[in-house]
Amino acid sequence: MQIVRTLAETRAAVRALRAEKGSIGFVPTMGALHAGHRSLVQAARARCGAVAVSIFVNPTQFGPNEDFSRYPRTFAEDCEALREEEVDLLFAPEVATMYPADAVTVVRVEGLRDRLDGASRLGHFDGVATVVANLFQIVQPDAAFFGQKDAAQVAVLRRMVRDLHLPVEMAICPTVREADGLAMSSRNRYLSPEERRQALVLWRALQVAEALVKNGEQKAERLLEAMRSVFAALPDVRVDYLAVVDADTLLPVQDVRRGALLAAAAYVGTTRLIDNLLLPPEV
Ligand code: PAJ
Repeated sequence: MQIVRTLAETRAAVRALRAEKGSIGFVPTMGALHAGHRSLVQAARARCGAVAVSIFVNPTQFGPNEDFSRYPRTFAEDCEALREEEVDLLFAPEVATMYPADAVTVVRVEGLRDRLDGASRLGHFDGVATVVANLFQIVQPDAAFFGQKDAAQVAVLRRMVRDLHLPVEMAICPTVREADGLAMSSRNRYLSPEERRQALVLWRALQVAEALVKNGEQKAERLLEAMRSVFAALPDVRVDYLAVVDADTLLPVQDVRRGALLAAAAYVGTTRLIDNLLLPPEV
């Protein structure tokens, strides 16, 4: 695995890989890699001739009171995992490489930027869209791999790719979970043992709602009530949002017959966790 840090090195490495192996699959990450990230790398490996991964803890997607400075940084272990997955290229830029001091350009996906996580993390999706557009320019992948775990991020980035006519195929991979159902996340390592137990409430609430749908419930409001009551049993967990929305627009839907995204975000202690579940359309 070649590790590159500058734009010139990366462009040269990408050119060589494309000539040697054909298509390039790209997995952008912030590091602290777990089995969820690895599943994206495996999907890229299966679909593309070469695999490029980026590790960059992107400062512009963190709010002033968020965890940018204490976000887990485990570069040596991450390299080990990526080598095991036979990744060809790792791009790990410095902040000044991605954001020269005089850079002022921001990618804003209007509307979507304010929904779900964007409503409680102001400016978060501008940071995500800007860095991903920037990474796409540098790596120029044929396909890029993202996790369904971050459903709002998927909606924002799909829209950005469409609106900017970016020549990248977006591949969305299923959420990888711990044995008990908790969605894997780099932030799970912040949880104390007690919080780790409480964290399961997100997945439980989503499953309760899904079970109602399987029993014929179609009204979004009923699903929300059911999810709220699962959370009510754990007063220490503070709900950020519970939502039943269209997966592309992230706007609320009244009923789920045409499919819907069930999404939850909550603070377990001081750690903000998210999870979601896609309900397929009724056939
Ligand atoms: P990060 O949180 O490191 O996640 C990198 C990718 O891994 C994202 O596409 C995310 O959805 C996916 N992922 C995380 N947990 C997952 C899980 N349990 N199962 C499947 N996929 C999972 O998302 C980001 O970084 C950043 O916002 C980024 C896109 C890199 C831009 O900075």
